Amino acid sequence: MTVNAKTSASAGNTWRDLPAAQQPEYPDAEALRAVIAELESYPPLVFAGECDQLRARMAAVAKGEAFLLQGGDCAEAFDAVSADHIRNKLKTLLQMGAVLTYAASVPVVKVGRIAGQYSKPRSKPMETRDGVTLPVYRGDSVNGFDFTPESRIPDPERLKRMYHASASTLNLVRAFTTGGYADLRQVHAWNQDFVKSSPSGQRYEQLAREIDNALNFMRACGTDPEEFKTVEFFSSHEALLLDYESALTRVDSRTGRLYDVSAHMVWIGERTRQLDHAHVEFASKIRNPIGIKLGPATTAEEALRYIDRLDPDREPGRLTFIVRMGADKIRDRLPELVEKVTASGAVVAWVTDPMHGNTFEAASGHKTRRFDDVLDEVKGFFEVHKALGTHPGGIHVELTGDDVTECVGGGDEIFVDDLHQRYETACDPRLNRSQSLDLAFLVAEMYRDQ
Ligand code: PEP
Ligand code: CO
Repeated sequence: MTVNAKTSASAGNTWRDLPAAQQPEYPDAEALRAVIAELESYPPLVFAGECDQLRARMAAVAKGEAFLLQGGDCAEAFDAVSADHIRNKLKTLLQMGAVLTYAASVPVVKVGRIAGQYSKPRSKPMETRDGVTLPVYRGDSVNGFDFTPESRIPDPERLKRMYHASASTLNLVRAFTTGGYADLRQVHAWNQDFVKSSPSGQRYEQLAREIDNALNFMRACGTDPEEFKTVEFFSSHEALLLDYESALTRVDSRTGRLYDVSAHMVWIGERTRQLDHAHVEFASKIRNPIGIKLGPATTAEEALRYIDRLDPDREPGRLTFIVRMGADKIRDRLPELVEKVTASGAVVAWVTDPMHGNTFEAASGHKTRRFDDVLDEVKGFFEVHKALGTHPGGIHVELTGDDVTECVGGGDEIFVDDLHQRYETACDPRLNRSQSLDLAFLVAEMYRDQ
C-alpha cells in the first residue's frame, strides 16, 4: 500500500473542528503557527515500534498477566530538568518496580509520568492573591509559575522548550535504563543514600539482599540472563495541548498509521474527556496505547462509549481506564463500571490513580493528600476487583525521588505542620521517596493476597 503522508498526517488534525477544553489563549496566532510548523519538522521522541511494544505489554496487564507501575511528577518543570532530579525519580520507580516484581511475583510494566508532563488542566481559569487576579499557571509548556502579569501570558515558544526538555530527559532516562545503572545487580546501589534514615529504606535493603542471593544462586548455577542487565521503561504524559501533540503526530512508514511520537503512552484527563470533543477525537486517530481518567461521576454508559470510540477493534492493550474516584467513592462507583465493561466483552486495563480524588487544603493553605487515603483508595480498588473476579491492573501515582513534604502520613510520618518544610511541587502534592516505597510494599501485599 502506498501512503499519502500528507493526507494521512492531516487525519491527526480532525480535532480542530471540535470544541477543545483547557487550551491556552495565545495572544499571537501567527507566532503559534510558526512554532507548530517548527515542531512538525523535529525528529520523533519515541518510535512507533516502541509504542507497539508498550501496547503489547499493556495487553498483558489487561489480561491479568502483568502489573502497571506508572508514576512521576504532577507537573514537570523546566528548571528541574537536571541529572539529580531525573535520577532520583527513576531510582524511586526502579525500587518500587523491584519491590512489586519480587514481593508480588508479577511482571511489572514501568511507565514514567516523565519527559513531557508539562501541561496542566486547571479547575479555574483565574487566580486571585491579595486582591490581584491573574490567569492561572497552566504548566511550564504554557506560561510561567511566577505570579506576575507578564509571566502568566501564554507563550507558544514554550512548546519548543517542552520538546527540548522532554528530549533531554528521555535521553538520560534511556541512558540510565539501558547503560548499566538499572542492572538488577545494582539493586542495593539505588538505595544507598537512603537506607539508614528510613524504615522503608531498611525494609527495602532486606528485600535487595534476598534479590542478591537469588541472583548469586542463579549465577552459581551457570545462568546470568541478559534481561537483568537493562530495564524496559516507557514515557507518558497527559495529551492536553493538542497543538503540540498533533504537531508531533507522524505517519509510521511501516504501517501507514498515525502515532503521537511525543511519548509512548498518552492519556486524556478527567477535565477533557467529553466524548464529542477534541481530545477524544485526537486520541481516536493515533495508535499509541491510550489512557483515560475516570472520575466519580463517570457512568457505565460513558465507559462503553469510550471503548467504542477509542478501541473499536477491542484490542487488549489499546485502552487503559485510570480510575480516580476518591477513597470514599471507589467502592460505590467502580463495581458497575467494571461489571458492564466486562459484560461487553472488551478487555481493558484497569488502573487506580489514588491521588486525584483525595486532595484537600490544609489549614496552612497547602494542597495536600493523606497517605492513608491514598492507601485506602488502592485497597478499595483491589476489593472491587477481587469481588468481581477481575484484574487490578496497576497504580498511577504522583511521586518524586526527593525528600519533599507534600503529602501527610507514611511510615516516616509527615505531619500537617511539616508541610512547609519542603513543599516544592509546581502543582499537586507528590509522594516522597519513602512514602512511594511504603506504598509499593503495601500494594505488593495486596496483590499477593488477592
Ligand atoms: C493529573 O494527572 O495530574 C490530573 C490533573 O489528573 P485528572 O485529570 O485525573 O484530574
Ligand atoms: Co496532578
